[in-house]
Formats: sequence, structure tokens, C-alpha cells
Amino acid sequence: MTGAVPSPLPGSAHPASALPASALPASALPASALRAEGVWKAFGERPVLLGVSVSLAAHEVVALIGASGSGKSTLLRCLGLLEPIDDGRIFLGDEDISDPRIDGNRVRARLGAVFQSYNLFPHLTVLGNVTLASRVVHKVPRKDAEARAMALLERVGLADFAGAHPDRLSGGQQQRVAIARAIATDPEVLLLDEITSALDPELVGEVLDLVRSLAGSGATILMATHEMAFAQGVADRVVFLDEGVIVEEGPPAQLFGAPEHPRTRAFLTRFTA
Ligand SMILES: Nc1ncnc2c1ncn2[C@@H]1O[C@H](COP(=O)(O)OP(=O)(O)OP(=O)(O)O)[C@@H](O)[C@H]1O
Ligand SMILES: [Mg+2]
Repeated sequence: MTGAVPSPLPGSAHPASALPASALPASALPASALRAEGVWKAFGERPVLLGVSVSLAAHEVVALIGASGSGKSTLLRCLGLLEPIDDGRIFLGDEDISDPRIDGNRVRARLGAVFQSYNLFPHLTVLGNVTLASRVVHKVPRKDAEARAMALLERVGLADFAGAHPDRLSGGQQQRVAIARAIATDPEVLLLDEITSALDPELVGEVLDLVRSLAGSGATILMATHEMAFAQGVADRVVFLDEGVIVEEGPPAQLFGAPEHPRTRAFLTRFTA
């Protein structure tokens, strides 16, 4: 398995995104880490994703923005195989993970997901939460799983809380534990859904700092966010989703600085008004 979250690397933060994909001949295109092709999803009669195609190169950080109800969480959940799709295909690396014959649990074990509500197990300690998937899903021996978890807790600044239960931690600390838990299994891609929106404003910064550090160390991240300044500062590319359609995407400077589509402009004006 290729770890998407290696230890911090100096220098080349996002080698795969150094060149715009369109500047490369097709044969030299980096293989995508995660790719959706024409994904459709409806809840009952209500269409939510209308043929969404999006691709994430290895080590790329992509911010997904859009109004409430535009389908960001649904897209992340579909990509993470937490929601079945109606049509289209999803590839994790070279594997078609939307093939109904695949083992969903095996695929989900290759991804890391963090949501707005951190969903830590209240009856487990912080260390227990971070080691659970490694031990149960990946069968890593307890000692090894705990050593790695302690290193991660050190990295997120919470080693002192290893033996504590989640209810002793602030929201920001719990969210950092949830991130440590998500990266403990070396996921190929991290899916982050509005991970700061349930936090008190003074706790947002510590979680964003952690995401910035993961991005800088070469993680592959798709994150839905309302934090436009953060998206602008951290993402290699920003994707604007509107009513289940990707209306525009591009580097942050372009999308925020000179949006081309009237719907993007209207959204950004509303958002920054
Ligand atoms: N499980 C579900 N059952 C029925 N409808 C759903 C379900 N999940 C989402 N929807 C609907 O799909 C649409 C898109 O929702 P989604 O949560 O993906 O939006 P979002 O862009 O993440 O919004 P927000 O910014 O508020 O998180 C909404 O109209 C929502 O009501
Ligand atoms: Mg959402």
C-alpha cells in the first residue's frame, strides 16, 4: 500500500501538481489517486449529483466548495463508498471501486475519512480510538499499533491525552484525534468533510494547522470546506459544486481571484459579502 501520509518531507510538497495536467501529454499524466467519472446520485426523486467527474492526483489537495445542499457531503460519501451511487464509476488508483463485486470493507480500509462530528468511540481511550482500525481491520499487533498511534498523537500534540476518554477533550482536540485515527492506517486518500464547522472559532485554527501540515507532508486530500481563506492557502485546486454539478474548478488564485462562471461569482460574492 502506498502511504498517503508519510512523515513530514522537506521541500517538494506537491510534486504531482507542479505542472497543470493539461500541460502534460496524456501518456505522462500522473495516475489519479481517486477519480469519479459521471457519478449520479439521487435520494428518492431528488437528484443530488448530476454526472460529477472529478479526479485527485497523488499528493494533491483539493478543496470542494459550494452552497449548503449542493452535494459536497454526498459526493465525499459516494467516493468513500459510504453511499451507493446510481450511475458512473469511481476509481481508487487503478481499481474500479464502484464495481458491485468489490469488497467495500477492503476499499474503505484504504481511505481515511473525517466528518464534522468527530464520532470518536466514547468508551475507548484516545489511544484505543486511534489504534482500533489498525488492530481490527489491518491486524497490526497491539504493540506496533500503539507505537504508531503514540507517534501520531505526538504529531497532533495530544500524546498527553492518550489514556483519556474523548469527553475529557475539547472539540478541537477531539477532531485532532479523529484526524490521527484517520491517518493511522496510512490511507491512500483522506476525505475531510467540513471538519471545522462544529468547532468554536478559537479551536478552528489548531485543526486547520494540522491539515496544513498533512498537506505539506504529501497527503492526498479532498476536503469540503466553508473556510475559503484556508482553501485558498492550502489547496492546489478548488472545485466549485453547485446543485450537483461541478461548475468550475481551478487553482485557488484563479477560482477566487478571477472566477469565470457567473454561478461561481454569485456564490463567492454571497459568501464574502
Ligand atoms: N441520506 C439522505 N437522504 C435524503 N436526502 C439526502 C440525504 N443526504 C443528503 N440529502 C440531500 O441531498 C442534498 C445534498 O446534501 P449534502 O449533504 O450532500 O449537501 P452539502 O453540500 O454537503 O451541504 P452542507 O454544506 O450543508 O453540508 C440535500 O438536499 C440533502 O437534503
Ligand atoms: Mg455537507
